[in-house]
Amino acid sequence: MTAPADTLAEISAGLRAPRAWVSPKYFYDSLGSRLFEAICELPEYYPTRTEASIVARHGAEMTKAMGPDCTLIDLGAGNCAKAAALFPLLHPARYVAIDISSDFLQASIAPLRQKFPGIDMTALAMDFSEQLVLPEQVPSARRLFFYPGSSIGNFTPAQAVGLLRRMRAQCDDDGAILIGIDLAKDSAVLDSAYDDELGVTAAFNLNLLRHLNRLIGANFNVRQWRHQGFYNAQEGRVEMHLEAREALQVAWQGGERSFAAGESIHTENSYKYTVPVFAGLLEQSGFSVATVWTDPRQWFAIIYARALRP
Ligand SMILES: C[S@@+](CC[C@H](N)C(=O)[O-])C[C@H]1O[C@@H](n2cnc3c(N)ncnc32)[C@H](O)[C@@H]1O
Repeated sequence: MTAPADTLAEISAGLRAPRAWVSPKYFYDSLGSRLFEAICELPEYYPTRTEASIVARHGAEMTKAMGPDCTLIDLGAGNCAKAAALFPLLHPARYVAIDISSDFLQASIAPLRQKFPGIDMTALAMDFSEQLVLPEQVPSARRLFFYPGSSIGNFTPAQAVGLLRRMRAQCDDDGAILIGIDLAKDSAVLDSAYDDELGVTAAFNLNLLRHLNRLIGANFNVRQWRHQGFYNAQEGRVEMHLEAREALQVAWQGGERSFAAGESIHTENSYKYTVPVFAGLLEQSGFSVATVWTDPRQWFAIIYARALRP
């Protein structure tokens, strides 16, 4: 596989930066998508389970807020399981599943087409981190953006506002968003959620190097790297890094770099919010919070927000 020129340029710039970084969107080749599914099964990884418990308890209210026959747009749909859990309550007219991991997305949506023949389904392979433009055949009325799993936490607050604004620009005044937010909590819970005992999160993080080897012709040796996942209290985010176990050299199409032992590549941020702070970001982006649902421990929130008229 060869990456398009802009992908190569983006990854090269990150790898060459004094503090090297790679966007978390490159975790997701087909194996990365399956490893993420495995993470969701881990006892330490509370977000998926907690979010599902909120949907199990309040799903009827969530879907009533939007009403039937909307166009449900699932950003970073992954295995599409969370949207599929809403179908029997929401009765959307259309389902548009968007993901950068295109083979995995196609394989995930196929059984849903059989199971829910009354819903018009489209799978779009797209990177929405810089641009979000839906094809003309997706009606602009009654669009409901669904962004679960606290994936918005992968963006800095300023970038999150940029993405939320792109969603607002892609819906009419009757549009809305249903979004999952991971809430600030005890750092020990966060540390173990992102550095589990079995090392599944480590495998997910390290798999990024294998993906880069294919994508940009790099020569990363996975065994020379170590996973790190921890809460950074000052920044209010979990960070994942890959740390060089020894001094090493890496080369890729058109570039190379040396890493000293202990030097690392920053691979993910996962910002943790309070509801008022996130509501502020929604409002800056042209959405007004209508309802917030949380779990009894207040570990996770699902927010329904309506498009504000400009
Ligand atoms: C953390 S997983 C969440 C999957 C699922 N929505 C859930 O909540 O369990 C993030 C998903 O978003 C996709 N993704 C990440 N960055 C993306 C981007 N920039 N554009 C499109 N999809 C992206 C990944 O491939 C992955 O399926």
